[in-house]
Amino acid sequence: MSHTIESILTENRVFPPSEAFKAQATINDAKYQELKDKAETDYVGFWSDLAREKLSWSKDFSVGLDDSKAPFYKWFTDGELNASYNCIDRHLEEKEYKNAIIFEADDGSTETYTYKDLHDEVCRLANALVAKGVEKGDRVIIYMPMIPQAVFAMQACARIGAIHSIVFGGFSAEALKDRIEDAGAKMVITADGGFRGGKTVALKNAVDEALEKGGRSVESVIVYERTKQAVKMKAGRDITWNDAIAGMSNYHHAVMVNAEHPLFLLYTSGSTGKPKGIQHSTGGYLLNAHLTNEWVFDLKNDDVFWCTADVGWITGHTYVAYGPLSMGMTIVMFEGVPTYPDAGRFWKVCQDHAVTVFYTAPTAIRALMKFGSDLPKQYDLSKLRLLGTVGEPINPEAWIWYHDVIGRGECPIVDTWWQTETGAHMIAPLPGVTALKPGSCTKPLPGIDAHIVDEEGTELTHGEGGYLVIRKPWPSMVRTIWNDDARFVETYFAMFKNKYYVVGDSAHLDTDGNFWIMGRIDDVLNVSGHRLGTMEIESALVSHPAVVEAAVVGRPHDVKGEAIAAFVVLSNNLNEAAEKAAMVQELREWVAKEIGPIAKPDEIRFGTNLPKTRSGKIMRRLLRGIAKGEDLCGDTSTLEDPTILAQFMEKH
Ligand code: WTA
Repeated sequence: MSHTIESILTENRVFPPSEAFKAQATINDAKYQELKDKAETDYVGFWSDLAREKLSWSKDFSVGLDDSKAPFYKWFTDGELNASYNCIDRHLEEKEYKNAIIFEADDGSTETYTYKDLHDEVCRLANALVAKGVEKGDRVIIYMPMIPQAVFAMQACARIGAIHSIVFGGFSAEALKDRIEDAGAKMVITADGGFRGGKTVALKNAVDEALEKGGRSVESVIVYERTKQAVKMKAGRDITWNDAIAGMSNYHHAVMVNAEHPLFLLYTSGSTGKPKGIQHSTGGYLLNAHLTNEWVFDLKNDDVFWCTADVGWITGHTYVAYGPLSMGMTIVMFEGVPTYPDAGRFWKVCQDHAVTVFYTAPTAIRALMKFGSDLPKQYDLSKLRLLGTVGEPINPEAWIWYHDVIGRGECPIVDTWWQTETGAHMIAPLPGVTALKPGSCTKPLPGIDAHIVDEEGTELTHGEGGYLVIRKPWPSMVRTIWNDDARFVETYFAMFKNKYYVVGDSAHLDTDGNFWIMGRIDDVLNVSGHRLGTMEIESALVSHPAVVEAAVVGRPHDVKGEAIAAFVVLSNNLNEAAEKAAMVQELREWVAKEIGPIAKPDEIRFGTNLPKTRSGKIMRRLLRGIAKGEDLCGDTSTLEDPTILAQFMEKH
């Protein structure tokens, strides 16, 4: 058992909300009870009332939940709205001059955009998309650095009813091509490049490469000139952002769409096959995005909210682009990295922009914690009033450091459990209500029907671990996997015959009803809070001409959470250490090219065969043991060839 899991299992410190926090919290004990009671007595009415109260609809709905084709659930089915209208236009009357976005670039320069500026930028781009022939329902790929234009692009798509699909800028040309093709995208919005940690990163090149290899559906490419580096522009296909918006009106009448109209696709890793296009709706998604910012982050009009996630991930969708803007908040967007020019950067950004609510991943906290407590103490963090984490379990040591050093021992920490598929927080503290336990994401939010069940689907009350499942549908749930309804049902519902949405994580409950997430039950890795399928990395390795077979497993890592260990069988055995080392380098670069640098194996070991049972099944359990450095004296008698293990014990 890793040290992290062990300490989580034995953690018993409790941090109830302070009286001061409670007194100002939007959700207090009474409000919480009211929400819970309403969700229990009238589930559909609970969500429907909130949908009417929090969102602006151009046409009211008469159906709350349509479960006639379960598990393809629909919410607020005949209602009509527009996500961009909800994030921008409806705030203009009161908040025209309020900052919507405070942007800090990698080099420390800053820009601010008021709600009026945001409106104008988004409308100009929306008009440009229309001029380029993009219509409601068309798919647009966004492949951008972490700059405000990425949010403008999302909002412009939403405004005209086009479905955006953001591909994280760290993914390779190959990965981009796969996503463009699966989505059948008509347009790509990109930038020449971006700045990260004082370096320039190219993006347009990868688009060119992707479109040379495939992606025939793409008719046009809009290129934002961020770095001004030289890029090739293909005549008739490529246009700069400035040329595209030149002469465009700063007015665009948002296209009202059905509540179920897809707002976006976001590709994420699963245990089998290629990444799947998670399809989110407009109405249901926006409702939970809005509500969780209000409930969990307790956001109020004068808050400055900084979520450090890239818009290429779901966290950047819900807690940078859609949720806080739907609430009319001021957000901080940051282009750079936490360690440039030094490891005090996050704290400096918090100080300089008077950030009040800060949301990041445990991996970042662990990495910054290593630099000690003196660095953050050099900055004025007194404006912070609430801290959040997401992406993986947080070990109590990191929680306490975050709480004491960054949060002055006063800020509540909301450990938010959710997924790309859930759209928004599902299990998370309400900071004015919930007693916090370091390492636990605490309790399901009102209306979220989460349980832990055993193999038979029997609900477990506390103690033993089991499958985390969600029983009732909720508004922001994944609608389907793009182009693959069968895979949607198989992945999330088949295990318990449609009775539950199966999350893919294991968890256990303590006697106070708190949930403790234990990890994935499938072959999905969580590396620095990023989801990667072992199969994806294996297929990338096997596509290298020298590789015959590969198996990938995760092993605990004190900063990244999990590190990637690959076991590889080559067509020609290498004997020399230098040759092996060169091959390790070559394969790591290969995976970076096939998927992206985040998927590079941390270690690669070679053997003449993989450890298999006599029936040919790869014994991953043993590989996990080797990767962890365990002494494998366990029963290996089922192995076809026990000598293989000794080969893999050797590290390169
Ligand atoms: C993991 C990220 C423990 C979990 C929002 C989940 C967490 C997967 C937490 C989803 C948390 C996310 N505690 N584990 N607070 N948050 N996870 O789709 O395994 O990138 O299934 O969404 O991350 O990753 P995804």
